[in-house]
Formats: sequence, structure tokens, C-alpha cells
Amino acid sequence: MSADHTAQTIHEVERLRAELDAQGKKLVFTNGCFDLLHAGHVRYLHDARALGDALVVGLNSDCSVQALKGPDRPLNGQDDRAEVLRALRAVDAVVIFEGERATSLIEAIRPHVYAKGGDYTVDSLNREERAALENARTEIRILPLVPGRSTTSTINKMLGDKTSHRLRIAILGSGAGSNLRAIIAAVQSGALNAEIAITISDHADSNFIMTARDAGVPAQVVDPGSNPRKLGDAAQKEIFEHLERARVDVVVLAGFMRILKEPVISAYSGRIVNVHPSLLPNHKGANAPQLAIEAGELETGCTVHLVTSEIDAGRTLAQARVPVLPGDTAETLHQRIKTEEHKLLPKVLNEWRELGLPVRGAGAP
Ligand code: GRF
Repeated sequence: MSADHTAQTIHEVERLRAELDAQGKKLVFTNGCFDLLHAGHVRYLHDARALGDALVVGLNSDCSVQALKGPDRPLNGQDDRAEVLRALRAVDAVVIFEGERATSLIEAIRPHVYAKGGDYTVDSLNREERAALENARTEIRILPLVPGRSTTSTINKMLGDKTSHRLRIAILGSGAGSNLRAIIAAVQSGALNAEIAITISDHADSNFIMTARDAGVPAQVVDPGSNPRKLGDAAQKEIFEHLERARVDVVVLAGFMRILKEPVISAYSGRIVNVHPSLLPNHKGANAPQLAIEAGELETGCTVHLVTSEIDAGRTLAQARVPVLPGDTAETLHQRIKTEEHKLLPKVLNEWRELGLPVRGAGAP
């Protein structure tokens, strides 16, 4: 076996699994970043160990923590994190893995039991990891988390007042990304006093995500899941985690084509805005410019509104009017509407606090 303070190799863990198997004993596996160990981790690992006879922790490598949690993480390098974990009574072995998911480790170890923290449900586990667990006939156990203890909340407390008072915004989009470009331009020119903390897309090859990458703003793609129209539970949760890590004040939906549900919708209640290409409450839902033409409107426009669980129904924050011209197609009209969106959305964001709207922390629910 490796020296007491270093991580084990995968072969050592495979041997451990075979030994346990021969004795009719159970190997429990869990995985995570364990960047800043707190009481919640210690209690969780203790409970996980109690599910079997030995506990193996898959530890995300430094590169994979960075990919998952952003450029400022990990706070502690992988060897230090492994050493601290190995000093815990509950932990029998630690193995470092590359990549964001522990799938290949699960496939190699074939643990008897897989433990995961209670912020997950069996349904919100990553699809790939879940398939590997089912394949290995591993029992999946979700353990309750200790409330109020998390690495992110510890980091946020430490940053406290030292963070600037610029609004930290997240922008979510699926398509062309013209509103994203308008927000980036407004931030760069100083017209919008905000920081783009993160951008998220459900489309890996969208112009939206290319725009974010070209501008050098943090960009994440979330796998929406198998249903082409809906955002699966795992994706809903992943988005929430990205927002929390990025310490987001306000979530901006700029052409995000899937419906956000829990946990984001409650956790960010009053802090999610959408831009819609009509004068709401007229023409809710998809194809609003086309609907305005079909209804024979002489005027339509765009609306920036708060997002609730009911589609296009939250409080209106601002609107801009646009004429419908003879010979307009849905495309020409939409383009004219977008020109107004590009001014209206950055303006509302810049006036966020003056509008009495909440931000993260004290003002937020
Ligand atoms: C905008 O028209 C917005 O009103 C609607 O989706 C469109 C997004 O356009 N919700 P883009 O991706 O920002 O160019």
C-alpha cells in the first residue's frame, strides 16, 4: 500500500475490493472535491463508512476541480486534499481521478455501495455515473447533508464585504446570443455596472456559447438530459450549482429555451429576469413576433420581466414599443424588437438596485 498520507492507486483499490469480496464484506465508494474540509464532510463520510466495511473516496484531481468549480478552485492541491482525507477515521482509501465524473473509477472498482450527498436524488445523479452504477449492480444510497455546511458557503462568508458591490450576473441562453453580446458591450463600455459571473447554455455549439468564449467570460455548457424539450433534474441541479459557485446576484434568461424549475426558481426568486419579444401579457410563449403579425397588431415590442414558475407571467420591469410595419415577416419584426431588447435589458440590469430588486445575501429571500 502507499505511504499513509498519499493517495492510493486504482490497482490498490481494486485489490482492496477483491479482498473485501472474498470476506463477504462491502466496499463503499463516494466521490467529490473535498477542497475545504468542514464538519458536514466529516459527518457525511462517517455515515457513508457505516454503510459497509471500508470507505474509498474518489477525489477529483486539481484539473477536474477547476473544470467543475471555476478558475479559483481548488484552494488546496490534490495531494494535500488526499492527505487530509486519509487522516480521517472513516476513510480507508483515497484515489485521485481525472475528468469531471467518476464513471471510469466506478467501472474499475465496482463498489458494493455508492454514497452521495442529500443535495442529489437518484434521479438527479449524472446519467453516465448512474448507468455505470447500475451496470456494476451497485446499491445507491443518498445520505442527508448537514444543513448550513458547505464549501461554497464557507468561501462566501470569508469573502464577505471584500467582494465588490457590482451586480454579479449569470446569463443563460440557447441560441443566437445577440442579447449576450449587448450585455457584454454594455459592461465593457461602462454603461452597465455589473460583472458577468457566468454564462450557461444548454447547447454546446450555440452562437451564445461561442460569443461567451470569444469574449473571455466564464462559460459552461449543461447537458439538458434526454428529453429534447425539457431540462432534466440533473441539469436543473447543475445550473443551480454553477450559480451558487459563481455567487450570482441576478440570473438573466436571454433566449434560454428550456424552462427553469427547482431548485433555481425558489432559491433565486425575485432575482431571475427574462426578456420576451412582445408587450406582455400579449403573445406569451414561443413565436411571439409571428403571433403579433397574425393578430394584425400595429405595434408590439419587448418586455423585461421577473421569472416565476408560470411562463411569461412574472412582474413586468420594463417594456419598449416597436411598430409592426407593412410587409413585415416574423424575422424582420423580431430583428427590430431585438434592437430594443439590446438597450432595455442592460438598462434594467444597471438600475437593478434602484428598482428595489433583491440581490444575493441580505436583500434576497
Ligand atoms: C430574444 O428575442 C428574446 O426576447 C427571446 O429569445 C430571443 C433571444 O435572442 N426570449 P438572442 O439569442 O439573444 O439573439
